[in-house]
Amino acid sequence: MERSLSMELVRVTEAAALASARWMGRGNKEGADQAATEAMRDVFDTVPMKGTVVIGEGEMDEAPMLYIGERLGNGYGPRVDVAVDPLEGTNIVANGEWNALAVIAIADKGNLLHAPDMYMEKIAVGPESVGKVHIDAPIKDNLRAVAEAKGKDIEDLVVAILNRERHAKKIQEIREAGARIKLMGDGDVAAAINTAFDDTGVDILLGSGGAPEGVLAAVGLKCLGGEIQGKLLPGNEEELARCKKMGIEDVNRVLMMEDLVRGDDCIFAATGVTDGELLQGVRYKGHTGQTQSIVMRAKSGTVRFIDGKHSLQKKPDLVIR
Ligand code: FBP
Repeated sequence: MERSLSMELVRVTEAAALASARWMGRGNKEGADQAATEAMRDVFDTVPMKGTVVIGEGEMDEAPMLYIGERLGNGYGPRVDVAVDPLEGTNIVANGEWNALAVIAIADKGNLLHAPDMYMEKIAVGPESVGKVHIDAPIKDNLRAVAEAKGKDIEDLVVAILNRERHAKKIQEIREAGARIKLMGDGDVAAAINTAFDDTGVDILLGSGGAPEGVLAAVGLKCLGGEIQGKLLPGNEEELARCKKMGIEDVNRVLMMEDLVRGDDCIFAATGVTDGELLQGVRYKGHTGQTQSIVMRAKSGTVRFIDGKHSLQKKPDLVIR
């Protein structure tokens, strides 16, 4: 895969972030998502690749663009699988909260899990704790392992977990183990990536969230030398059938890094939409918009942070009407 694709992909996430951040706090998650999706779709036309969406905005009959199976790119360059979340955290933007991202991950064709749109149980950790946790192990054991790997006491650990009723038991177990907790409204891709950066103050992600988000996080963590393990959680017969149709025969199987993203020819790019622990959200001033992005390539292990300054005069679409 061309290394120059990394920079091309940042242009795509930047465009999505610049468009959707305009919707911050407007209480309109659909508007924010649509703005991100349209902006992302437009810029993809210029990216030199033969891409196919494997994780996107939905099936062809339910999403007008960035639907599963849609061809992306200008038709020249490598054949790749594309996973997109133009706006990861639609409610976050609607409410002006933390950690909304525009995200893309690509890998060689056939190398990304075609994760169906359902819940996935997840555990994600940074590089020091790789191989030391297991999704089926008791929470206390996993926390002890991460604490030991990071040279901390359990009491110093911070566990990120979505603030959901379904997590009540897990939250209780984390508290009983003595760790600290960051309860999140939304946005478990950012939380998973944060586990790989000490400065974010997040040591481990636990709990269930979207399966597609699990694959996106897996690509990011592969680039960072971290780890996520997942288990699909089909909620009914229809979801179970969907797993099988997508080639996932045993839904109880633990999905390890290689199951989520095979090999290391993959790229992850994300731009902050609202402020987060790792990336600043979009700032507008007069006719300029400022973005902060991360782009990483697993093969080389390169991690780049990119500050962008964009002329909005030249992008009239980004001025909200
Ligand atoms: P959206 O951007 O689609 O709203 O997803 C936000 C999110 O919080 C994800 O980060 C997470 O994986 C999923 O939703 C959790 O789902 P739920 O809100 O149903 O618990």
